[in-house]
Amino acid sequence: MKVRDSGMPEEEMWSDFFDPEKILRTFGLDRGVKDIVEFGCGYGTFTLAAAKLAAGTVHALDIEPEMVETVREKCRQAGVDNVHAVVRDFVAEGTGLQHDSIDAALLFNILHNEEPLALMTKAFHILKPGGRLAVIHWNYDPATPRGPAMEIRPRPEQCIAWGRMAGFTFDERERFDLPPYHYGLLFRKPFS
Ligand SMILES: C[S@@+](CC[C@H](N)C(=O)[O-])C[C@H]1O[C@@H](n2cnc3c(N)ncnc32)[C@H](O)[C@@H]1O
Repeated sequence: MKVRDSGMPEEEMWSDFFDPEKILRTFGLDRGVKDIVEFGCGYGTFTLAAAKLAAGTVHALDIEPEMVETVREKCRQAGVDNVHAVVRDFVAEGTGLQHDSIDAALLFNILHNEEPLALMTKAFHILKPGGRLAVIHWNYDPATPRGPAMEIRPRPEQCIAWGRMAGFTFDERERFDLPPYHYGLLFRKPFS
């Protein structure tokens, strides 16, 4: 089931909102990280940047075949060979990835979905102990030029509560302002 309010504007507009490499580095995702999963890769705004940083594979999942094809084509053009882009409904089918197998998960602009706790729990299961879950979302501010409706847009505090319920630890020092319109939260899966 496609997440509510998860359609995208034109790519040019969307990519103007982000500095993908800077955001990934803010989360400490650099060449120390091996395998990454991205829930809802969209145009691949973050996928290719993640692929350049990852020592392993970036699993890029999206329910829209056109988005997946766009990402594959970008990878072909850029000579990037460590992205595994697949059409998959992660709400209905899960990720298809093994438990305790992934180093980092990205939930970017997707936690306004109908079952955010279930989604964070899916991420929790596939992450290795010590693995990281990075979340970004639109500021809780009706003045942002895009973003889901305010009624379904989560505040950072709400995401933190869901993350803790899913089993992650969260340290306030790993809460980030990502101007101009986003916030970021880094969760960690405990070792035991
Ligand atoms: C708002 S976009 C965000 C894209 C990307 N994470 C980013 O921040 O640039 C959400 C993406 O999630 C995808 N999506 C929505 N529901 C999904 C589902 N159930 N399974 C897989 N992908 C889904 C949409 O097709 C869309 O590409």
